[in-house]
Parts: sequence; structure tokens; C-alpha cells
Amino acid sequence: MISKLLALSKLKRFCAMSTSKLEAMGDNVATVVANEPNPHAPSAGRDNACSIDDGMALNFDASDLELLEALNFIATDSIGSARGRGSLTNANSHSIVDPEIEHNLVGQSARMREVYRFISKVAPTDTTVLLYGESGTGKELAARAIHQNSPRVNKPFVAINCAALVETLLESELFGHEKGAFTGAVAQKKGKLEMADGGTVFLDELGELAPTLQAKLLRVLEEREFERLGSTRSIRVDIRLIGATNKNLKEAMEEGSFRNDLYYRLNVVSFELPPLRERRDDILLLADHFAAKCSHKSNRKLSGISPAARAHLMDYNWPGNVRELENVIERAIVLGSSDMILQEDLPQIVVEAESYDGAPTTKFSDAVKESKKHLILKAIEQANGIYTEAAKLLGVHPNHLHRLVRTMNLRPALKK
Ligand SMILES: Nc1ncnc2c1ncn2[C@@H]1O[C@H](COP(=O)(O)OP(=O)(O)O)[C@@H](O)[C@H]1O
Ligand SMILES: [Mg+2]
Repeated sequence: MISKLLALSKLKRFCAMSTSKLEAMGDNVATVVANEPNPHAPSAGRDNACSIDDGMALNFDASDLELLEALNFIATDSIGSARGRGSLTNANSHSIVDPEIEHNLVGQSARMREVYRFISKVAPTDTTVLLYGESGTGKELAARAIHQNSPRVNKPFVAINCAALVETLLESELFGHEKGAFTGAVAQKKGKLEMADGGTVFLDELGELAPTLQAKLLRVLEEREFERLGSTRSIRVDIRLIGATNKNLKEAMEEGSFRNDLYYRLNVVSFELPPLRERRDDILLLADHFAAKCSHKSNRKLSGISPAARAHLMDYNWPGNVRELENVIERAIVLGSSDMILQEDLPQIVVEAESYDGAPTTKFSDAVKESKKHLILKAIEQANGIYTEAAKLLGVHPNHLHRLVRTMNLRPALKK
């Protein structure tokens, strides 16, 4: 029995090995785990014998085998997911060991660890990468991290926003132009693709690229060649391309607004940056990070974010993602009047947001609203309608009281 337990615990430990080790071991692991009982084990009870170490074979009964099968299932599942990640497209598995990469992304949630793992996988290669994700999720930061951890790190990282310029300007921005190529082209100018030679080009908002430029970009991707506007001489460049979009390019392709061939060229390896509401564990970490960064930048002493303000930050849904959070913190620091970020320093939309889970209002939350209303009305009454006095009684900033009266629609009640 002791030997069986030892054998089982060894197998269990084996199953619990970090997936990164499983990855490193690759196919050999699958062979060990998926193998039928070792044919070299001593012959007694070969049908239900399992060899964990050389020379150690044990007989198991039906219940042992059930347990082993369950453990085997767990192990094969881990191998499956490790393999999936190996193909660079499956980003849903969790590894215990985080890769060491250089980046400026803040976040320790499981979803962010997937991001770091993805970056560490694609960075050393020259593969074209397509980053999906809502606006403000950190696509550009992730692209920079890929470049930073790639062999191209000492060459330029050139970011171009496809939505920021009209078609003709974007074309000359990308490909450059010769003197006199168009009115206003007073001198020859190198394009960004040329300037990025040896490095990485980040094309943001790719879904906005005009059809003529889509065709030209396809050629660059296929041949790494293009011409400056007004020139017939081809220029060769060595660039790695990272694209980003908050549009569903597949849908755009199906609708006909995005070229099929370009879509398939770009979509070699893709990854979706998670929206902030799907990695809530990171909200306060990011808020503290931006508070420290912004107070340093604006030379303001800040001792932290108040518990009430933290609760509101956690409750809000952050449709604008990390960018919105960064702006909310900066605004609170610029407009706030104490050394703490308080609830009243947050924008109304954040403070008045219903709890993020979108649950229907409960009797409890209705009761809380009612007593809030009651307290506010009573304070205003006691202060004879003087808001600053009423705010003092309630212990909130007068601006916050005005906001509450407005958002809770209390004016009609006050007029009575
Ligand atoms: N994980 C993160 N950690 C720290 N800052 C972030 C993170 N994600 C985004 N940001 C910040 O939010 C803003 C928007 O990020 P960006 O990479 O431009 O997003 P996107 O390209 O997806 O719109 C930037 O100021 C960036 O520094
Ligand atoms: Mg962006």
C-alpha cells in the first residue's frame, strides 16, 4: 500500500508539474503519460501494471486505476493546453511560471499573464502579429513590448495610425515621396516604412485603411518592397509588421470592406487584449500606478486613493478601458483639493454607476437609494437650502452634493 501511495503521489506530482515544463518536454511527456503500461515491466499483472521508476512495478485494483485515469486525464489536459499555446493561437490556458520579458504593461491578473506569455512567444520571431481589442486596452503598449523583446530592439519602432490621416497623406506618410510628386511636395521625404528599416512597424486602426492602401500594404507584406510616391524605383525594406484594430476584420472582410488576401496575410498570429472589465483584479493596481505616475508628473503630494473612491473604481464598467482609468485618475489629481483621491474627485459617471455586474436593482439597493435621498433632502432642509452648509452636514464636497441632487433627480422634491 505504501508503495502504491508513493507511486500515486509521484504520478500526482508529475501531473501537477508546471505546464511550462510540460511544454519544454514536448512530445516525450505525452508518450510517458499516454503510454499503455510499460511493456518492460515485470510480467506479473502486465495488464494493470504501471511503472513509475525503472524497476518499480505495482499491481493496481479497479479503484486505483480509476484514480490513475483521472490523474492521467488532468495531465493530458495540461499537455493539450501546453501544445495549444505552442501554436501561438490558443491564449486561454494558465501557466504557473510567467515568462521574463521587458514591458511597461501593468497587471497581474490571469488575463494579463496570458498577454505576457503571448508576447514572450512571438517577440523572438519575425511573424506578422495582429492585435485585437477595444480602444484603450493597451494594444500599442503590447506592440512596443513585442518590439522591445525582439532581436530588432535596437532598430526603430515606428507607429502609424491609419485612422488619423486622410488617404493621400497616409500614403505619403507610409511610402514617402519624391520632390514634386504632388503640390506641396517641396522636397524628397522618406516614408515611415523606409525609416523603420530593420525594425518594427506598428499599424494602428488597420480596419480603417482605404482600399487602395490595402492593396499597397499587401505588396509590402508579400515582397517587402514599395515605391515612393512619384518614383518608379523600388525600395526594399526589412520590417516586422504588427497591426492593431478594434474592428472585427473578419466581418469587414465578409462585408467586402477589407481585402481577403490582406486579411489572411495579416492574420498569421492574432491575439485579443482583454477589456479592463474582464480583469478587474488589475483595476486598483492600475489606479495606484497612474496616481503615483501623475502625482509625480504634476509635482503633487498624494497619499493615496480613499476606500470609497476605490470602491467606485472597482464598480465601474470602464468602457474606455485603461485609457479611461488613466484619464479619471489624472483628472482627480488635477482637480482634487486634498492629498487623497476622494469619491468626489471622480467623475459623476463613475460615482453614479450601478454595480458592474449589471444585476437588476434589488430591494436592498432600492432601500439604499431611498435612504440616500432622505439624508440629502433632510440635510438641505436643515441647512435652509444652503448647499455648502448641507454638504458640510453630509461630509461631502458641495460639488458632489450638487451632482447627487442632479443625478438622483431631487430638484422636484426640493421645490416642494
Ligand atoms: N496594462 C497597462 N498598463 C499600463 N498602462 C496601460 C496599460 N494598458 C494601456 N495603458 C495605457 O493606456 C493608454 C492606452 O493604451 P494603448 O496601448 O494606446 O491602447 P490601445 O492601442 O489599445 O487603444 C496608454 O496611455 C497606455 O499607456
Ligand atoms: Mg491605440
